[in-house]
Amino acid sequence: MNRTPSRIVLAVATCATLVTGAAQAQLKPEDEIRYRQSVMNVMGRAMGPMGAMAQGKAPFNAALAQKNAGLVDSLIALPFSSYGPGTDKGAPTKADPKIWSDAPGFKQASEVAQKAAAQLLAASKAGDEAKFKAAFGEIGKACKSCHDNFRTKEFRN
Ligand code: HEC
Repeated sequence: MNRTPSRIVLAVATCATLVTGAAQAQLKPEDEIRYRQSVMNVMGRAMGPMGAMAQGKAPFNAALAQKNAGLVDSLIALPFSSYGPGTDKGAPTKADPKIWSDAPGFKQASEVAQKAAAQLLAASKAGDEAKFKAAFGEIGKACKSCHDNFRTKEFRN
């Protein structure tokens, strides 16, 4: 009687291992490339309405700022785990080979952007327009600086 629960635990653990193993085996370079580009595209879309407010082309709307800053903040860390070995090719990509030759520099650029995203969200939650504008400027710089250093102009295979 006593052994039933442990057998269930074992079965669940085995199952979890199989699922994890299967998920990892499916991460082909083309999937990683598509994933990281998709996340970048969603962040790019979220930046649009915030850019308009930061530039005074649209009135400041704290709820809209918070929604989009929240998206960027929750997404920004995701793409950077999709640059593993072998993901430099396999589908059209703008990932610069420097990502792999200067991994610490790439990691640092991603950390700067993650901090900037947290600050943008904090300013948005506070409903503070001046802080929001300043924080938006910072994250814009963080995106651009990484693109300048680690993204190529043209797609390559
Ligand atoms: C640490 C580096 C880094 C940071 C920070 C970064 N990006 Fe990127 N981004 C890249 C790289 C590398 C690519 C190219 C990915 C590929 O093609 O495989 C890219 C691609 C993109 C693309 C094009 C996606 C496509 O399908 O071609 C958009 C849009 C984008 N980034 C938006 C942003 C925005 C907005 C931010 C800031 C909120 C940002 N990125 C921050 C490195 C970065």
